[in-house]
Amino acid sequence: MKLLLLFVLAGLSSAQYNPNLRSGRTSMVHLFEWRWVDIAAECERYLAPNGYGGVQVSPPNENIIVSNPYRPWYERYQPISYKLCTRSGSEQQFRDMVTRCNNVGVNIYVDAVINHMCGSGGGSGTQSTCGSSYNAGTKDFPAVPYSNLDFNDSKCGTASGEIENYSDANQVRNCRLVGLLDLALEKDYVRGKIADFLNNLISIGVAGFRLDASKHMWPGDIQAILSRLNNLNTQWFASGARPFIFQEVIDLGGEAISASEYYGNGRITEFKYGAKLGNVIRKLGGERLSYLRNWGEGWGFMPNDRALVFVDNHDNQRGHGAGGASILTFFDSRFYKIGVGFMLAHPYGQTRVMSSYRWTRNFVNGKDVNDWIGPPSNSDGSTKAVTINADSSCGNDWVCEHRWRQIKNMVIFRNVVNGQALANWWDNGGNQIAFSRGNKGYIIFNNDNMDVTLSTGLPAGTYCDVISGQKEGTRCTGTQITVSSTGSARFVISSSAEDPFIAIHESAKL
Ligand SMILES: *[C@@H]1O[C@H](CO)[C@@H](O)[C@H](O)[C@H]1NC(C)=O
Ligand SMILES: *[C@@H]1O[C@H](CO)[C@@H](O)[C@H](O)[C@H]1NC(C)=O
Repeated sequence: MKLLLLFVLAGLSSAQYNPNLRSGRTSMVHLFEWRWVDIAAECERYLAPNGYGGVQVSPPNENIIVSNPYRPWYERYQPISYKLCTRSGSEQQFRDMVTRCNNVGVNIYVDAVINHMCGSGGGSGTQSTCGSSYNAGTKDFPAVPYSNLDFNDSKCGTASGEIENYSDANQVRNCRLVGLLDLALEKDYVRGKIADFLNNLISIGVAGFRLDASKHMWPGDIQAILSRLNNLNTQWFASGARPFIFQEVIDLGGEAISASEYYGNGRITEFKYGAKLGNVIRKLGGERLSYLRNWGEGWGFMPNDRALVFVDNHDNQRGHGAGGASILTFFDSRFYKIGVGFMLAHPYGQTRVMSSYRWTRNFVNGKDVNDWIGPPSNSDGSTKAVTINADSSCGNDWVCEHRWRQIKNMVIFRNVVNGQALANWWDNGGNQIAFSRGNKGYIIFNNDNMDVTLSTGLPAGTYCDVISGQKEGTRCTGTQITVSSTGSARFVISSSAEDPFIAIHESAKL
């Protein structure tokens, strides 16, 4: 009885850290700026059949329309109201997407922008995605409604009203972030409006939230809002299931605000992960793959059960946020596949795969001046459809990293080895490493020339490498790897190989 109660309590207290993934799935994908109709179709035709567990969607609530003269992606981080219409689609389309994705076991996580409204220089009018009126100058957002009473600039204390000093935690939380009107989250009324917004999304069927700009909110204010959230919709989720929470806190160390202050509220985006992994794979600062032996907490990362991990995100892939030149993106596809492959093979953290659109970079003094460019769009500003080519890649400048065979098959690998400990670690002291996940999967990476015979821990047999190809029926379209009766196998990888890694697992045995 006592034991049972303990388990129940443990279940409840860990609830907001649990992504509520279904049927043995382990990873989400961020379909950045995708339209709801495309996401609904992708859940059914691709994500569910290939073992993806969830989608992080762009902010679904009304935002200001920025025209300079083209519309940037960042306009979606400038709310006007909590009505559900954006460039991604209408409320009806959002509801249809959530229902259809849930029906095939794919969760929807909403990017929730609750720290602020639009920029203080946003003017007034109805240039917003649902046509609601607003006045940034007088801080009026009648479609919520918020008035100037719901912004408390007096607590900021800087002359400009902006964050001027990132070493001052009070400024980071109480002042305006790049001019964005900072909501008074200490007010009961504001907390209530935000909770209503999130509870509406929960009732529609979303499984959790990315809390944008969490570092700019007091952990206690976030906690007060979260305590008002309902349990998930029991049409798809277990009774009592809590929304999954992951907070955007950029903490590379040495700042006034640390990620640990937010551990009580939910998981946190571990920005050290992609920054450090990029250094290792690019061999910057003398880093080597073999140093990944104690990857995770051993590298000073947050506890495994608090970390939301990713190789790149929509900010740092274009030089915003954190990580700078070390961040790996689709622009460096060879390195990128190694990075995402490693992330999905390694047990640390809750994994998120990035799915981007292409833009033309233009570096001026080391900065990409095209970092603002929005999603592929038509001349009227509407977002272009995601088209699918005959070879399963995407058209219209959607990159669809999540459809790259190497990445898609590693998402499946992670599902197959879920719960298995990292074992059989091997490295050559340099840039060659290998490890197993229990006796269910084995992966080997080469950032040099390689010809080795290693102990895999896997049962004897012939396996199909899921990086150079995959198992299709009884045949293998890629390299075959023979594991001997003693569990050993020979791996040959050239230094010039486009995909310098091999992965085999239980479900890819021939
Ligand atoms: C504004 O914030 C300050 C500092 O937290 C607080 O003392 C004050 O009561 C707030 N004002 C309003 C109108 O809520
Ligand atoms: C920034 O804030 C920190 C912490 O409050 C303080 O020590 C430092 O002097 C401030 N810097 C400036 C330039 O005001």
